Amino acid sequence: MSTQDELKKAAAAAAIEFTMSRVCKSSIIGIGTGSTANFFIDLLAECHHNFLGTVASSHISEDRLRTNGIKVLDPNDISELRVYVDGADEINSDLELIKGGGGALTREKIICAMAQEFLCIADNSKCVKSLGKFPLPVEVIPIARNKVARELIRLGANPKWRREFITDNGNEIIDAHGLWPIESPKALEAEINQISGVVTNGIFAKNSPNTVLISSPNQITTHVRQENISKLLL
Ligand code: 5RP
Repeated sequence: MSTQDELKKAAAAAAIEFTMSRVCKSSIIGIGTGSTANFFIDLLAECHHNFLGTVASSHISEDRLRTNGIKVLDPNDISELRVYVDGADEINSDLELIKGGGGALTREKIICAMAQEFLCIADNSKCVKSLGKFPLPVEVIPIARNKVARELIRLGANPKWRREFITDNGNEIIDAHGLWPIESPKALEAEINQISGVVTNGIFAKNSPNTVLISSPNQITTHVRQENISKLLL
């Protein structure tokens, strides 16, 4: 029987192979946040001579990269990343995600949007039919917390303030419970982002991954976004 950590590590190892097949000496890699991303960072240390450097989606990942001897660059100093690698809290069959369990969703979204390719890695416990059982993280400007919470209630959520948690951007997180099943992740992502006071929410549907590697005991399955397949067929 594989533990969840063993499965996360297996997904991270597969992500190293995927990433190394795409980078050259001048490439920059985007690095996510969380325990799966941590396994990726630790394995990346062994091949840091194959690429130029990284940009990190959180202070925690930045520290771990540096401790592993991997160069970390400021996103403002670069225009494009070859690939962004990160975990997820939930993944549906359209490869739409909920992210932000670790509270790094805004920086994750920014860095992901700078990448030519987004690779998501996860163990099979993250695969769901519909998104929303995992409470949806929403990063808010502190003075807008209660106002945003009221608007989330209007959208059918049961908002809970993640007390004593401040994001790397100095903001707060509301976890929106009770949204399952999210029927249209793209529409809900856009609607919540329109609420004034919201920085961003943890639905990654507009910027969904190009590829997802899922680890199960004894196997890794590769899922490619439909749109990529249509491009390949053209
Ligand atoms: C952090 C995230 C993580 O990718 C997500 O929470 C998954 O974490 P883990 O790899 O520890 O299961 O979005 O903000």
